[in-house]
Amino acid sequence: MRSAGRLITGSIFSAALFTAGVQAFYLPGAAPHDYKDGEKVDLFVNALTPMLGGADNAKLKSVINCMVYSPRKRIFDSPYDIRMLENNGTCQSLCITSVPGEDAAFINQRILEDYALNWLVDGLPAAEMKMDMKTGDLFFDMGFNLGNDEPPYDEQPILNNHYDIVLEYHTPTPGNNRVVGVLVWPSSRGGPQDGALDCDSDVPPLVLREDESNTVRYTYRVMWNESSTPWATRWDNYLHIFDPRIHWFSLINSLVIVVFLCVMVSMILLRSVSRDISRYNAIDLSEDVQEDWGWKLVHGEVFRTPQNPMVLSVLVGNGAQLCAMVGVTLVFALLGFLSPSNRGSLATVMMVCWTFFGGIGGYVSSRVYASLGGTDKRKNSFFTATILPTFVFGIVFLLNVFLITAGSSGAVPFGTMLLIVLLWFGISAPLSAIGAYFGSKHGAISHPVRVNPIPRQIPPPPRYLKPWAATLLSGILPFGAAFVELYFVLSSLFASRAYYAFGFLALTAGVVALTTATVTILFTYFILCAEEYRWHWRAFFTGGGSAFWLLAYGLFYWASRLSLDSFSGVVLYLGYLLLLVILDFLVTGTIGFLATYWAVRRLYGSIRID
Ligand SMILES: *[C@@H]1O[C@H](CO)[C@@H](O)[C@H](O)[C@H]1NC(C)=O
Ligand SMILES: *[C@@H]1O[C@H](CO)[C@@H](O)[C@H](O)[C@H]1NC(C)=O
Repeated sequence: MRSAGRLITGSIFSAALFTAGVQAFYLPGAAPHDYKDGEKVDLFVNALTPMLGGADNAKLKSVINCMVYSPRKRIFDSPYDIRMLENNGTCQSLCITSVPGEDAAFINQRILEDYALNWLVDGLPAAEMKMDMKTGDLFFDMGFNLGNDEPPYDEQPILNNHYDIVLEYHTPTPGNNRVVGVLVWPSSRGGPQDGALDCDSDVPPLVLREDESNTVRYTYRVMWNESSTPWATRWDNYLHIFDPRIHWFSLINSLVIVVFLCVMVSMILLRSVSRDISRYNAIDLSEDVQEDWGWKLVHGEVFRTPQNPMVLSVLVGNGAQLCAMVGVTLVFALLGFLSPSNRGSLATVMMVCWTFFGGIGGYVSSRVYASLGGTDKRKNSFFTATILPTFVFGIVFLLNVFLITAGSSGAVPFGTMLLIVLLWFGISAPLSAIGAYFGSKHGAISHPVRVNPIPRQIPPPPRYLKPWAATLLSGILPFGAAFVELYFVLSSLFASRAYYAFGFLALTAGVVALTTATVTILFTYFILCAEEYRWHWRAFFTGGGSAFWLLAYGLFYWASRLSLDSFSGVVLYLGYLLLLVILDFLVTGTIGFLATYWAVRRLYGSIRID
């Protein structure tokens, strides 16, 4: 009764959260908006990067730019008056505001921390045109700086209070205009802040004084620039940094690996296995008593209960839950529900999916556990529901505590942490218990061959089949299929670049899953041929082998690409990398294990045993 009550509260709670999640992301233009000449074009202040905690964020937004928060839209409405094709190049005043010394210190601190403003115009993020120092290429960099603290302003940061906004528009039919690009050139204009409106003359930059109240006038100027970019490809400008060719390169690279693998697997498995099978079955028919050989030798051992069936089934159950989460998130992203400019929504969708797939985790875990010969169902269901969430939450919590003690504004408020715990206890854990109930009701998977009462001796395996060697070797292929795409994912996670090639990402994920499954099946076939029958754990580790390469790549990326100047930045990066690696290990290990389980059942189901 009590658990039912908890379940209901949980569902209501989650529905509320899901609504919040839906509001947190917007549809990135399922249909283009046609603006008539003179129609108002809204400009929203979407977020400040790096993300500030809630209260700080609201404070900064209200202090700068005269924003008014509209709770209904959960977004900051701004007083910009932008009308399609009007006021071209006119200097306009946004507002004049007074900034007390205390707030000036706060703003100056944020400028030193390189905070950026993110605007949205017609769903498109405002970008700053920047030059890549290495290649000299121009690219759209999302967001633009709050101020400037580069030399000669490194002693005294300056605040940007003027924005030159270049709106690129495309006119498919006369009178219907579409916004296809938003560029902002921020600048700092000091001098008298209450004189005649002026956006051109040379003035000294604006320095906020921390010992007295400052008057700041924000000005802006809109320029309409016709563009030949059609609405459908307007995001491509933002992809400029990610040369699309490199995605194609990555995809072709992945496809080559997959084709290579499929050929190899079909050659090895189909030819030798079918030959083996016909030979085995022929031998059985003849009167001669011949020795069995190869993988058939271990038919009485393959379904022997492995060591620690509890741990293995808990890992597989949680891995299956994560697989479902990744799959659904990718589908969401593919359908365009996730905007690249709003990373929070991605996290929200992943959290919600993960919570709701608790049932899958419980079901898979309890069935695998029963199939492996485990008997303590309750313990299994309890561990499945608790261990991984506790572990993940523990890491996130530690990182957050660290950020709070380091005084970083990036810390998540305590309320959000509490919400996550509630989400887990209120929904995920009960769903997992329900899943486990159904799993144990369906019971163990039947095995085609019986287990001998006395275990066989295992001969020493060849060197390349030693557990660690096999794990690392087998990890190369799935990792190789994904590593170009991985670069973009890491850049978007840690270097605040835009990522929107979700199609490529989904394809890559599919390729990785396929590669992992085939490689694991292949290695398991090899070890069974070497008469090593303890394949359960081996399959999980072989499948998860790519996670070790991911860890190595993450460290390499940190050393070569990322300049994290603050200690808390390093801790944050390593903490999240560790989480990513562990989750990847679980997901790919589970794929490897389940695929191998299926293959082993097929394999031993196809021979006749006397
Ligand atoms: C706005 O002004 C810019 C520069 O002065 C010019 O290139 C552009 O064509 C003008 N746009 C419109 C719609 O008049
Ligand atoms: C308008 O676009 C053209 C190229 O499409 C560019 O050369 C020009 O500088 C742009 N004008 C402004 C004001 O940005």
